[in-house]
Amino acid sequence: MAKTMVILGSQWGDEGKGKIVDLLTEHVQLVVRFQGGHNAGHTLVIDGMRMVLHLIPSGILHAGVKCILGQGVVISPRALIEEMDLLIAKGIPVMDRLRISSAATLVLPYHVALDKMREQAQGSKAVGTTGRGIGPAYEDKIARRALRMMDLLNLDKFAEKLDEILDYHNFVLTQYYQAPAIAREPILQEAEMARERLAGLMIDVPALLAKSYQNNEKIVFEGAQGALLDIDHGTYPYVTSSNTTAGGVATGSGFGPRFLDEIIGVTKAYCTRVGGGPFPTELKEEIGQHIAKVGQEFGATTGRPRRCGWFDAVALRRSAQLNSLSWLAITKLDVLDELKEIKICTQYQCQGKTWDVPPLDTELLGQCEPVYESWPGWEESTRGIKTWEALPLNAQKYLKRLAEIVEVPIAMVSTGADRKETIMLTKFE
Ligand code: GDP
Ligand code: IMO
Ligand code: MG
Repeated sequence: MAKTMVILGSQWGDEGKGKIVDLLTEHVQLVVRFQGGHNAGHTLVIDGMRMVLHLIPSGILHAGVKCILGQGVVISPRALIEEMDLLIAKGIPVMDRLRISSAATLVLPYHVALDKMREQAQGSKAVGTTGRGIGPAYEDKIARRALRMMDLLNLDKFAEKLDEILDYHNFVLTQYYQAPAIAREPILQEAEMARERLAGLMIDVPALLAKSYQNNEKIVFEGAQGALLDIDHGTYPYVTSSNTTAGGVATGSGFGPRFLDEIIGVTKAYCTRVGGGPFPTELKEEIGQHIAKVGQEFGATTGRPRRCGWFDAVALRRSAQLNSLSWLAITKLDVLDELKEIKICTQYQCQGKTWDVPPLDTELLGQCEPVYESWPGWEESTRGIKTWEALPLNAQKYLKRLAEIVEVPIAMVSTGADRKETIMLTKFE
């Protein structure tokens, strides 16, 4: 296997990143998150047992693996500790396996309040955030006023900084949004608990990664969200507030970009999106409902129904471009098993023009009409299939066409939620 591998979502999130990261962790020593926060929901299914991770990297179930939160991640101490405790209760030695950048930004209750008030004020134009305070936390980071993990180590100073920040945010909350102010004491209590539980886990992540790389250890970087939710390259403003694309790996972890070997774009065999924003191939009627039902398309974090649509090769071309994808990992093929006809969007039509990649203007994207080609379904179960040869011919043809049209080869195909339900087309040992 390559020494370093990036695994990220190439659509609008929930592509099945958790499953793929867990699967490939077998061969590595480190799994690193570099962006996002507990807005993510990554599902692992092992021998029928389901587990959803939000902040903790999807490698946590493997012995001998270090799971790292880089400084590009925004961390809610409360959410992190809750998640750690759930895993510890299951007997997973989280304290041995987890390490956290001391430079990571904190998500605190005023971020959640601001997130909710902003969404409410937007009305029908709301982004449909996860309501976890992610956007406001990144705003504080960029505005150079954020509290960070290392601030937990000196609680007197923490309290001083908190007072200044609360002064500012409570003014916005009470005066602009007419919302209640956020109290200081519960935050100080949370900080104290966080110091007790997390101080021993804080490290210098860039130093660790450089040393591990020198020692020939293998590293997986785990993306959250998806390329089309990237703050710079996604369907702005209907995006998350971090760089979800491959460029975010280096900035969000402090690992040198020259040492990144392979980049895997996890991609559903169709498309989904949660929250607002344009979605050219969305299927609002019967077929969309069928995919949602069979694919159990409900958010792993918020439980919201996901919007479903046909595979969008136009969007994928952009994603391949942005991420310099080496491979596709196609997931949820089995969800299409019962369909008679399956469509692939190959181009958009908009303003009398044909588009091979999506327009950068989100409003224009909202006006794009998909151009489809139609493929016959296979109408038999692919669930749990583990070899390419065992796939129905029409499923093979469909997958070959996806790879051809996106111009990225397929490394693996997922045919069920379980770790074992996977076809490996290339060796990753
Ligand atoms: P992530 O956020 O990218 O990790 O993806 P999520 O966990 O939010 O959503 C993916 C969902 O699809 C989860 O419920 C997975 O258990 C499930 N899943 C992953 N791969 C497959 C697959 O190949 N087939 C089916 N039917 N479900 C899958
Ligand atoms: P994983 O890692 C799907 C979406 C939200 C909303 C937008 C902004 O499980 O793929 P935010 O709370 O981040 O400010 O919301 O981004 N979103 C996701 N959609 N999967 C996710 O994570 C998401 N994380 C955020 O629905 O549209
Ligand atoms: Mg998810």
